Parts: sequence; C-alpha cells; structure tokens
Amino acid sequence: MRITFPETDNTKKENGMDTVNYGIVGCGMMGMEHIENIGLLPHGQVSAVLDPVPELAQEASRRAGGARVAQSMPDLLDGDDVDALVIVSPNHLHVDQLFEISTLRHLPILCEKPLFTNPEQGERIKVFRDRYQAPIWVAMEYRYMPPIAAFLDEVEAATGGIEMLTIREHRFPFLPKIGNWNRFNRNTGGTLVEKCCHHFDIMCLAMQSEPVRVMASGGQAVNHTGESYAGEVPDIWDNAFVIVDFANGKRAMLDLCMFAEGSHYQEEITAVGRDGKIECLVPGPGRFWPDALGPAPVPKLLFSPRSPKNPSERDIPVDETLLEAGDHNGSTFYQHERFNAVVRGQGQVEVTLTDGARAVEIALAAQQSAIEGRTIELPVAG
Ligand SMILES: NC(=O)c1ccc[n+]([C@@H]2O[C@H](COP(=O)([O-])OP(=O)(O)OC[C@H]3O[C@@H](n4cnc5c(N)ncnc54)[C@H](O)[C@@H]3O)[C@@H](O)[C@H]2O)c1
Repeated sequence: MRITFPETDNTKKENGMDTVNYGIVGCGMMGMEHIENIGLLPHGQVSAVLDPVPELAQEASRRAGGARVAQSMPDLLDGDDVDALVIVSPNHLHVDQLFEISTLRHLPILCEKPLFTNPEQGERIKVFRDRYQAPIWVAMEYRYMPPIAAFLDEVEAATGGIEMLTIREHRFPFLPKIGNWNRFNRNTGGTLVEKCCHHFDIMCLAMQSEPVRVMASGGQAVNHTGESYAGEVPDIWDNAFVIVDFANGKRAMLDLCMFAEGSHYQEEITAVGRDGKIECLVPGPGRFWPDALGPAPVPKLLFSPRSPKNPSERDIPVDETLLEAGDHNGSTFYQHERFNAVVRGQGQVEVTLTDGARAVEIALAAQQSAIEGRTIELPVAG
C-alpha cells in the first residue's frame, strides 16, 4: 500500500507571532543556504544551531548573527528561543531525528528531502505522522525556482494538457561532503532518491495524477570510481533513464547525467501536448560558471505552438540577492517565505509528507527496476 497521510490541519490559525525563531539541525552546505535565506525574511531569524562538527556550528552561529550553539537535540529544544526547526542533516538521519524531536517538542518542521532513504524508514514515517502534532513541510525547493514555477503556471495553456513530460538534468558530479556520506547508497538512499526525488515531485505536480509504473536503467559510469574511503569505493550512480507511467495514461521521463557540467543549462524540462510544446531551461549554480565565459545563462521558457507555428521565448531572471544567497535559483527563499507564513498561522503546508513520500517511492522503484531489469508496479495510493 502506498504511503499516504491524513494531512496537517491547514486551516489558517492566526497565532500573532511576528518573528519566527528557527533552530537549524545540520550546518553544512545546505544548512548555510537556509541560514542565508532565513536572514532575508522579514519575519524570521535563526536563533539556535546544532552540528556535531564544532567549527561548522560556530560558523553557522556567526552567519546567523550570534545564534546559540546547541550541544544536542534536547539542548536545541530546551528553552523558548526556538519556534520552528529546519532539518538539514545527511539523508539517512532525517527519520531518526524526526522521531527524536517528536519525543521532545512538537514544533513546525521544514525537513530537507529526501524524507527517507529505504522502505523500512518509510514505514516508520507512518508512525511518526500519527504521533506528530505540528505542521511538517518537506523541502522540495525545485517547485519554487522561478523558471519552474512559471513553467508549472503556463504548461496547461501551452500544451492543451501534457501528454509527455521530459526532465533532463545534466550537471556536475556530487560535491565532497563531511564524512563523505554522499558517496554511499546506504546513506543517501541512492542517486535517484538523493538527487532525483525533486524531479519525481515535479512530475507528479505537473501531471496531476498518481504514478503507477516505473521502468529504469542506471548505473555508475564515470564519477568517483577512483575514490576510496576506508578501503571502500563509492557505489553512487551517476547516470540513469527513468520512465514513469501515470494513472491518467500520460508518461514522463527522467534523463540524468552527472558528468555533464559543461552544459549551458542544468535542467531542461519539456512538456508536449496536442496544442504545442513548452520548455524550461534552468542554469546550474552561478558560482560554477567561469568568469571568462561572461554572464551566466539566464533561465528561460520556450514556447512552440503547433498551429500557427510561432516559436518564442521568455527570460525568467532571478533576483541577484537571491542568487547570491544559494545554489538553487532563489528557490530556497521562496519556499521559506511560504513556510514562514505557515508557522505564523498565515499559510498552508504545500509540500506534504505524502508528497515527500511519493517522490521517494518512485525513486526507490526506479532503482529496483534498474537493478532487477524489470518494470515495477507502484502500489495504489490509499
Ligand atoms: N533541496 C535541495 O535542493 C538540497 C540541496 C542540497 C542538499 N539538500 C539536502 O540537505 C541535506 C544536507 O545536505 P548538505 O549538502 O548540506 O550536506 P553536508 O554534508 O554539507 O551537511 C550536512 C551537515 O549535517 C551535519 N550532521 C551530521 N550528523 C548530524 C546530526 N546528528 N545532527 C545535526 N547535524 C548533523 C554534518 O556535520 C554536516 O555539517 C541532505 O538531506 C541533502 O539531501 C537539499
């Protein structure tokens, strides 16, 4: 049975909170991006940080303007200086940390993707949901990238209803991480879970239908094969094709390559329907674009109606301050704006536990399909 949840009570409850005080769990690369973006919110500030690496906790505290450095999860939650939490630790820790928090205090949580890394953790998430009494938002930043948000707004009108959706991600290899956790499938859940749960979430959102079947081929061709950690060679994949069939008869495909950082654009999303085609071009992090090549590419939408034939394009530039605050085309800020409103009782959870679980389920099925060389039927939601 597919994992679904009775969702958070989304009725608006004004709670009078003017400034949300955040506790950050995990102060690595993405934790710092959250801190930078919370710093841009008119109603938010980071008040406490937690990381087992003291230097990173201290650096996070400094960036947050002197946030308290907590020594443990109970220490983080002991006191009234934290109103909401952001979980930004390595993937395999998310479920245990959600459980630990549930034994301490029920605060709103923004939990980084992927929600879980294996089917057993998926079962535990069901127990957690039954127990937890505050809003949970799974961080699927890609939904909030301005070019992807514009694509989702325009796709129905441009296509007359999507028949085929393709997401191509051609990017740089996985970056080095503290403890090299991202080199091994046991920690990440596998590349399609770690990296591509975003894309499976976008597929479900665009298709407005449930995924029913997954076929995939994938593996490790080029990256990390010459690395060794305590004698162990990384097993993380760097390329895959995944086809997802939806209950409404429409189909989507992912094309992932992680040794293609020479590309102009990192993501190229294409939807085609009876009336025409729309494409969304999303550049990778600007800090990886060589100065010698001039300005980094600007995100774009391309419109290709069938009749009359009249292709056109529109730039979707991202605010410079937001580009400076992270690697994700401003999406971290826009997601935080909405989560912040939820905590203040003025908004609704938009990326639910069900959404987060469904994206991981597709990814796990794709990895199983590629390993076993067969089609995987997804369980019916219910
Ligand atoms: N949504 C996105 O676009 C996006 C982008 C990057 C990363 N992420 C997610 O963010 C999470 C962190 O990724 P990252 O790239 O920052 O990795 P990272 O290795 O740079 O940072 C992880 C941090 O967590 C800390 N940590 C380890 N154990 C901890 C514990 N028990 N409690 C608290 N902190 C702990 C580490 O010391 C490290 O500083 C991952 O789940 C990743 O998938 C999401």
